[in-house]
Amino acid sequence: HHTGGGGLAALAHLNSVRDMFALNAADSAGAAAVVDDGAEVEEEEREVASDTFRSTALISSREQYAAMYRRSVEDPDVFWAEIASTFYWKTKWETRDGNKIHSENIDVRKARVAIEWFKGGRTNICYNALDRHVEAGKGGKIAFLWEGNDPGVDDKLTYKELLERVCQLANYLRDQGVKKGDAVAIYMPMLLELPIAMLACARIGAVHSVVFAGFSAEALSQRILDCKPNFVLTTSGVRRGSKVIKLKEIVDDALERVLKEGFAVGTCLTYANDSAVKREDTAWQEGRDVWWQDVVPKYPKESAVEWVDAEDTLFLLYTSGSTGKPKGVLHTTGGYMVYTATTFKYAFDYHDDDIYWCTADCGWITGHSYLTYGPLLNGATVVVFEGVPNYPDAGRCWEIVDKYKVTIFYTAPTAIRSLMRSGDEPVKRHSRKSLRVLGSVGEPINPSAWRWYYDVVGDARCPISDTWWQTETGGFMITPLPGAWPLKPGSATLPFFGVQPAIVDENGHEISGVCSGYLCIKAAWPGMMRTLQGDHARYETTYFAPFKGFYFSGDGCRRDEDGYYWLTGRVDDVINVSGHRIGTAEVESALVSHPQCAEAAVVGFDHEIKGQGIYAFVTLLEGVDYSEQLRASLINAVRTHIGAFAAPDKIHWAPGLPKTRSGKIMRRILRKIAANQLDELGDISTLADPGVVDQLIDLRDK
Ligand code: WTA
Repeated sequence: HHTGGGGLAALAHLNSVRDMFALNAADSAGAAAVVDDGAEVEEEEREVASDTFRSTALISSREQYAAMYRRSVEDPDVFWAEIASTFYWKTKWETRDGNKIHSENIDVRKARVAIEWFKGGRTNICYNALDRHVEAGKGGKIAFLWEGNDPGVDDKLTYKELLERVCQLANYLRDQGVKKGDAVAIYMPMLLELPIAMLACARIGAVHSVVFAGFSAEALSQRILDCKPNFVLTTSGVRRGSKVIKLKEIVDDALERVLKEGFAVGTCLTYANDSAVKREDTAWQEGRDVWWQDVVPKYPKESAVEWVDAEDTLFLLYTSGSTGKPKGVLHTTGGYMVYTATTFKYAFDYHDDDIYWCTADCGWITGHSYLTYGPLLNGATVVVFEGVPNYPDAGRCWEIVDKYKVTIFYTAPTAIRSLMRSGDEPVKRHSRKSLRVLGSVGEPINPSAWRWYYDVVGDARCPISDTWWQTETGGFMITPLPGAWPLKPGSATLPFFGVQPAIVDENGHEISGVCSGYLCIKAAWPGMMRTLQGDHARYETTYFAPFKGFYFSGDGCRRDEDGYYWLTGRVDDVINVSGHRIGTAEVESALVSHPQCAEAAVVGFDHEIKGQGIYAFVTLLEGVDYSEQLRASLINAVRTHIGAFAAPDKIHWAPGLPKTRSGKIMRRILRKIAANQLDELGDISTLADPGVVDQLIDLRDK
């Protein structure tokens, strides 16, 4: 309870948080989620791993975890140095202040936010992920099992073969003048050449910037303009399900756009994926475009390693935030390497003979940390799937599980919900007896989907690791360690080693015990991003200024009486559609670019399969009439600016938008209209024109 000056200071702080994130209870979906959640959750439901499972688990009790966790937060330097020592370092890191191996300031009030781990240490993540295993005599182990879009089309690479492929590409890139620190853009489908490209960049110290191959030419061009690569790596095309997508055409369009902005990409290295789009059907620009298969195989299969500093940049990955422009999240080498490898090992209880399948695309962080780096650093065998879970039918995933005897299966709730709709039969048709551990990522998993995943897919035998983390965190933050403690459907359970979550109230104060609030993290961990590409100020204002002294995740969260964490969704203007982060501001700016659109406001709404759908309120220019054609062309504007995955599910015609007298859009009201909760609109008397609400309600189904 605040009084006097303290109260005013708290209020001023609250206002700044409100401005930045629209966090006030009166106008935030998140705040509502923080309060609403939990009501439908059956608190007492628990699942305990079997004795058989626990007998081989790396961490088999909460006590064992607690002892390790205590060490990890009381003496993070010693804890992480011990783990880091199991990797290869060309030169050991510097220690400072006696034996401090990391420096951190995450408090914007003190100084510039600056985080470093293992600084001065020289290593290479590609060397640790590949050469190290080959040198240890494991070169014959399968690294990747590739399953094509169509059943029966597959491929595999041993660690030795993978290393050779990576070396050839590394040699080519180096020969073409790509140097340490140079950015390389990658716009490719899930062929093995995608992780090969990432690893080749890492080998020569180049910074990879993978752009998900579902983004549009315009979105790709923005990302290219932000990181200025001289090289773009792509593919002629890809087949996904029954569709053919001509990726090279999209890249051509993007490169033309960047040229108009005065930037020229030197080389577009294109992998000919003949099964989708043949060479002769691919547009070509002599001098700029090069066929991958014409040049790369000519290079030697061995290539020198570029030893880089632990704090040298490994990659950029763009992600959506509250404002329009995507953020180039920057990860460095040493801490990310140690963190992704360690989280992978413990959260999936990884053993040497596991066969691991992660359904993520390398265009997102999960494909970086848990399809490529984390598993390969552990020497794991990884299944890579080019296709989609329901092609040719809803049993495809389980067919693949049986084909490769997958033991660890990691996917997103949206996939689980969509498969759940096809019933149990396509699952039960396949044995799945190899499965040991299941994983979930991308959004809160609703308890009913969790149940189905656990009971039907896992035959009530496989623990589910519901891993909460973000592009920014590099790796898992809150996650079960399978076998270590009972699971509760819908809870990500407890923090990983070294992670200190704090639930914070609107005044920026940490609250304890059973509570709900904004999820923050108290101290640095090795895998966290170091900055946003070219904009350290934005890094500080977005993540460290809202709650001073903390890293702010943007998520709401509740902690229960067992200390378990329950994530409740974003509290900022980010929507999570099928596990893909989309900024409402990005969709709005795409809509507003349409010549007949005057204004747009976008909110999320509950969607049975996607988790959240995109709901757009659109005000047209004076005199323009509503039509289905216009609706389609507005949706198309979003496809063009961002990509098909961001296409609005609903366009709601809005003669006016509900605004305060100062002109701020009251999204709370729009969210209620989108959710059809018309009796919960709340106080609308502060609107400049309360009449717009009735107009909107009238136009609901128009
Ligand atoms: C959400 C994906 C609840 C969350 C790895 C976060 C989750 C955002 C979970 C990050 C989970 C991810 N439970 N929510 N297990 N995993 N989220 O950057 O809102 O694409 O802030 O990283 O996804 O999305 P991103």
